[in-house]
Amino acid sequence: MIEVANLTKRYGGVTAVKDLTFTVRPGRVTGFLGPNGAGKSTTLRVLLGLHRPSAGTATVDGRPFGGRPRGLRQVGALLDAQDVHGGRTARAHLTALARSNRIPPTRVEEVLEDAGLTGAARRRIAGFSLGMKQRLGIAAALLGGAPVLVFDEPLNGLDPEGVRWVRGLFRRLAAEGRTVLVSSHLMSEMEHTADDLVVVGRGELIAAESLAEFTARGCRQRVTVATPAADALLSLLTAEGASVRTEGGLLVATGMDAGRVGAIAQRHGIPLSRLQEERPSLEEAFMRLTADAVQYPTGDAR
Ligand SMILES: Nc1ncnc2c1ncn2[C@@H]1O[C@H](COP(=O)(O)OP(=O)(O)OP(=O)(O)O)[C@@H](O)[C@H]1O
Ligand SMILES: [Mg+2]
Repeated sequence: MIEVANLTKRYGGVTAVKDLTFTVRPGRVTGFLGPNGAGKSTTLRVLLGLHRPSAGTATVDGRPFGGRPRGLRQVGALLDAQDVHGGRTARAHLTALARSNRIPPTRVEEVLEDAGLTGAARRRIAGFSLGMKQRLGIAAALLGGAPVLVFDEPLNGLDPEGVRWVRGLFRRLAAEGRTVLVSSHLMSEMEHTADDLVVVGRGELIAAESLAEFTARGCRQRVTVATPAADALLSLLTAEGASVRTEGGLLVATGMDAGRVGAIAQRHGIPLSRLQEERPSLEEAFMRLTADAVQYPTGDAR
């Protein structure tokens, strides 16, 4: 279990994290989301004892993690895949990590195999592509079989096969009862992988809840209807409290579920050729609920 309590981290005049409190539970994949510069990496660095908090605490199973011996057996982490000694081979890098953490050397071959790097094990890391370094970083995090795993944007640079591997891996780790905290900007991936979310903006907590609760809160449910009697149905649905607009020959209703739309149509003998409830999307909810916290909006957002 990861517990962050009233955590503040300042770098000189910049407050990167401000009075942040959340819990990450075992047996779940928790997505750590937020716009660029929101304080995700900072939080993870403090959690792992790489940076000191200005105030508050970040603990793993009740204790600060920094400086624990054989740390890789307690917490496996990937923070920055580029941050490796390029002169070593992949196997030598993992072997050194295993040795200093008293992890049996057989684990090195297992994680190389898992990450699809067996064929590249004897190559120097300096010659690795971004995605290969990412795979190596994930392999290193898995080395100690730790009950708590932390990944900062692990999907960066991974090919579709790699993304699929990581998706399955996170689900499996959670199913084994481990605590899995993953930051990512890929909403479509998080939507399929995360159970819970911690969402931050400008260093502060925006949400800590299940993915389902977050998306439901951030998106209004939409029902799309196709009917030859669009005008009549539009008036009926509006009279019953839905907001309805036409879009490309279809009616799009919000504030009413599909069952009710169907029942109203049937009661008035209006035939429907399509009645579809759209699933709320994480991306839409994220955009809406973090809109005020975007520090570096692009031209599109203005
Ligand atoms: N070592 C540092 N020195 C000074 N400022 C820093 C340092 N590390 C982070 N910051 C600042 O803290 C804030 C939060 O940065 P952080 O890297 O934690 O954001 P993030 O949520 O990980 O963003 P991204 O999605 O872009 O990775 C930013 O304003 C950043 O400039
Ligand atoms: Mg970051």
